[in-house]
Amino acid sequence: MKFLAVLYSGGKAAEEEGRLLGTTENKLGIQEFLESQGHTFIVTDDKEGPDSVFQKELKDADVVISTPFHPAYLTRDLLSEAKSPKLKLAVTAGVGSDHVDLDAANERNITVAEVSGSNVTSVAEHVMMTILVLVRNFVPANEQVRGGDWNVASVARNTFDLEGKVVGTIGAGRIGYRVLQRLVPFDCKELLYFDYAPIPEHAAKALTCRRVESLEEMVSQCDVVTVNCPLHAGTQGLVNKDLLKHFKKGAWLVNTARGAICNADDVAEAVKSGQINGYGGDVWNVQPAPKDHPWRTMKNPLGGGNAMTPHVSGTSIDAQARYANGTKLIIDQWLNGKDIDQANVICIDGHYATRAYGQRDEKGQTVQPPKGKQ
Ligand code: NAI
Repeated sequence: MKFLAVLYSGGKAAEEEGRLLGTTENKLGIQEFLESQGHTFIVTDDKEGPDSVFQKELKDADVVISTPFHPAYLTRDLLSEAKSPKLKLAVTAGVGSDHVDLDAANERNITVAEVSGSNVTSVAEHVMMTILVLVRNFVPANEQVRGGDWNVASVARNTFDLEGKVVGTIGAGRIGYRVLQRLVPFDCKELLYFDYAPIPEHAAKALTCRRVESLEEMVSQCDVVTVNCPLHAGTQGLVNKDLLKHFKKGAWLVNTARGAICNADDVAEAVKSGQINGYGGDVWNVQPAPKDHPWRTMKNPLGGGNAMTPHVSGTSIDAQARYANGTKLIIDQWLNGKDIDQANVICIDGHYATRAYGQRDEKGQTVQPPKGKQ
């Protein structure tokens, strides 16, 4: 079998730190596992365009492995019989398989699997950090001291407590739930969520969170909104200027799910105008983000409100060990004709195996929710 992995190049950092498993240098730690069984294992970071190693090697690959951090886009075109005739399995080393055209994969009976749960704690921690960084106005305060200044009032004028605020999550699956759990000790005024799949009653009770059925209604009540749903046709561009109008003035928005769930220009405009007090997260609609991406430089009128990082939340050293092991397990199960753990399967036998990538009817067709309702 031929395995093709598209990973990011880690350069010097990956040479020095062998636990950076998600890199081309350290190859998810599965090179020996595959090659000792006689399989071919190609690893590259070169993924764009028809002359890329990815697209050339795809022509006779049986399995593609990629990560959301440096995604190999398996578009409908690349998933055609002509471009990937032998492809049977696409594995996401991590969580979030939106870089695969899942409908097209189903049409060709290609199995899509990801390592569910592997980095959900890592992301939930990053969400908590980002909420605090924004609400407490950390970045300008830190810039100030590193710049040799001392002006308490200029940062304190936009510094708040998380206690007593209303926080809501769009999506309350593994990550959204963990974020709500971690918010409990902060004594927020209220915890809200918007998701077509309700949190089981006993679990919601333990969090004392409340489900809101309309997205507009939820965001209009929140001081902080955090996005924790997958990217799919129903969430692409979900947070745009129309929805932002419903946000409380001065609210904060945190998105570690996928950049394209938010409209980049609309969000940057809302931050610059002060309509929202800040935006933070680690995911971008284009990755790597271009130098002139508006989220790199946007600031609120008081010089803060930007808590962006590169796509790092789900790739802590701890998370890399988990998603590398999980990738190996998926491949091992698949090679040995065993069932892949159900929680890891996104698409199989031409069907969606999960409800997370949009609501569907019994025929697998996307259900178009009424505006604002999911
Ligand atoms: P999950 O599958 O456990 O939960 C997703 C939840 O979102 C489900 O409850 C689903 O019903 C809900 N959902 C789907 N569409 C929705 C919509 N239109 N409105 C409201 N809720 C909706 O997934 P998990 O593990 O919580 O991860 C969520 C996403 O976070 C992933 O799909 C991925 O895109 C992103 N992620 C980002 C990482 C990073 O490094 N920044 C790492 C891991 C995941």
